Amino acid sequence: MQNNLETPALLLDEARMQRNIARMQNRMTQLGVAFRPHVKTSKCLEVVRRQLAAGARGITVSTLKEAEEFFRAGVDDILYAVAIVPNKLDHALRLIRAGLRLTLLVESVAMAGQVARHGAEHGVCYDVLIEIDTDGHRSGIKPADPALLHIAAALQGGARLKGVMTHAGASYDLNTPEALAAMAEQERARCVAAADKLRAAGHACAVVSVGSTPTALNARQLEGVTEVRAGVYVFFDMVMADVGVCTADEVAISVLCTVIGHQPDKGWVITDGGWMAMSRDLGHQSHGYGLVCNADGNAIPGLEFGKANQEHGVLQWTGEGDISHLFPVGSSLRILPNHACATGAQHGQYHVIPEQGGAWQVWPRFSGW
Ligand SMILES: Cc1ncc(COP(=O)(O)O)c(C=O)c1O
Repeated sequence: MQNNLETPALLLDEARMQRNIARMQNRMTQLGVAFRPHVKTSKCLEVVRRQLAAGARGITVSTLKEAEEFFRAGVDDILYAVAIVPNKLDHALRLIRAGLRLTLLVESVAMAGQVARHGAEHGVCYDVLIEIDTDGHRSGIKPADPALLHIAAALQGGARLKGVMTHAGASYDLNTPEALAAMAEQERARCVAAADKLRAAGHACAVVSVGSTPTALNARQLEGVTEVRAGVYVFFDMVMADVGVCTADEVAISVLCTVIGHQPDKGWVITDGGWMAMSRDLGHQSHGYGLVCNADGNAIPGLEFGKANQEHGVLQWTGEGDISHLFPVGSSLRILPNHACATGAQHGQYHVIPEQGGAWQVWPRFSGW
């Protein structure tokens, strides 16, 4: 392991990432659906290039900044999968006028009307999906809600209904293959039901877009679905390990940190990787601030990352005796994150351990809006 990096630093194991990309893409191909990865996880062109090379068709973004960055790099089919609001419409318009095939999302009659008016005023016709709530975990319209047809009716003039979209985020609370398969089926069935209702009322509804990493990997069939979106699978993390869709040794990113001191009487090993390097995301609260591993990325059972200050990580030894000598000041540790998207967002670059070996590379990562 190359070890002259200033720490804390975000490491990316390219071989693990490539296996994660291949696993998801193969599954989507078996299920017979297009795959549109959510790139908010990496916010990194090098990562997204590899997802597209593996067979992804278009991308999903969570900010217009992501849309802008990836469009500039040549990706021209982008779904902005957060409900649009008026203060973002001018930005969306600029991107569309520059040639981006951008799809917007609405979940209210009021915004459907505003999007349509904005399009008509500026001589464009926005492609729009309606967000469907299939699990009660966040936003969207329930398939049976009469508002569904009112939203569709409002999408005329400067906007056209392209389809429906849902994200079963409630899958993060599950942890058995049976429960995950049932959630995947619920996500599919309810989103398809919304599409059928729209079609029965005379609306075209070409796109039926579903997805989260747990449901994508546990769906048994996806009849009526045209595309799947998933994001965190590209790196995986300890939350996904708790859900049961990966193991710790499939997690592709880690935070490299250095031991800066000890409190032997308390069994503490103190590092320069605090919450600023890990994020405050405690996931399912089963791994503290992350899973502690040695410099080669193998978990160290008994050393727990329960306490963090901004730039200090306090690792607690829960076994017998004093272990300070095993982790001398200056030695390296790696922490697997609870939530890859949140930990990634704390860093400006990935230090990439290349699949083919050789010198580590630096891949930039952007942030902000
Ligand atoms: C709208 C939407 N689609 C897809 C995803 C991807 O989910 P996951 O990261 O579980 O793959 C997310 C994640 O938050 C999302 O908000």
